[in-house]
Amino acid sequence: KNIKIIEVKSEIGAGTRGASLGVEAIKIAALDFMSNFFVHFPTEAIETENKLLFEPIESPYAKRIKGTLTLYERISKSICETVKTNWFPVVLSGDHSTAGATIAGLKMARPKAKLGAIWIDAHADLHTPYTTPSGNMHGMPVAISIAEDNLECKVHDVDANTIKTWDALKNLGGIAPKILPEDIVFISLRDYEKEEEHLIKSYGMKVISTNEVRRKGPEQVARSVFRYLSDCEYIYVSFDVDSLDSSISKGTGTPVTNGLREREVEDLISKFMQHRKVCCFEITEVNPTLDKENLMAEIAFNILQRSVNVLLLN
Ligand code: ARG
Ligand code: MN
Ligand code: MN
Ligand code: MN
Repeated sequence: KNIKIIEVKSEIGAGTRGASLGVEAIKIAALDFMSNFFVHFPTEAIETENKLLFEPIESPYAKRIKGTLTLYERISKSICETVKTNWFPVVLSGDHSTAGATIAGLKMARPKAKLGAIWIDAHADLHTPYTTPSGNMHGMPVAISIAEDNLECKVHDVDANTIKTWDALKNLGGIAPKILPEDIVFISLRDYEKEEEHLIKSYGMKVISTNEVRRKGPEQVARSVFRYLSDCEYIYVSFDVDSLDSSISKGTGTPVTNGLREREVEDLISKFMQHRKVCCFEITEVNPTLDKENLMAEIAFNILQRSVNVLLLN
């Protein structure tokens, strides 16, 4: 495969500052390991909207949502072009909010094909402006991708401008939903609110726990994931580093206990990367300002390097 790296140094969707430095931290990790990994691949950097961090917040239940829409337009266009010109996008992003734009771009490149997603994350990212406990957009990309409002669980009254922008996010590229709830697999999900749980239960969404990964091992888990997604024609893999256990994921904004070990994630993602249907890989939420000795970025780099090595062999 021809790998192209897409950098999205954005953090406007997170509640804690610093994730926009994650991409550079991963490059520093490469240098500290004396690896010339980044020399080998063309890189495209998406222009960010991080200047909004210095401005007052307009939408408390969807913070900086206008900037998020601007990013979605840029990122989806770039991903769509990348895929159409036969490159495999490896996306390095700051916060996870922009993963919905990655998904949008993949769908826009092949609107008729059925897209699946493997969401490796402590969180479901299934909130909407109507249900969010934080107003942070990085809790919403899965809801955006399945075009969900979750009005059944509504807790906030949302202003008309925010709703307009939210609807534009869901409908980006004139396709909604981008992906069906049944075509998403959550891995190591363990921290979610009742509004998200309602969606997971009512759609019967597939969840594979940390324990199941541990018990079955990477090979069997990968096999069951691809069997479950067998009617999808291509598959996106999103790796939020907070899927790793909080003992090793201090360098991320929302660490959670009972997560995966480094080796478990690395082996599992390598298995995923062997599959011909996998069309894009994203690593997100590395925040070096919260870390010691750049550990999170070093782990992310190791996983990146091994994943890309597998992709290059396939
Ligand atoms: N569910 C929480 C929220 O909406 C946490 C989301 C964390 N998401 C992430 N991509 N780290 O605020
Ligand atoms: Mn996430
Ligand atoms: Mn997360
Ligand atoms: Mn299906």
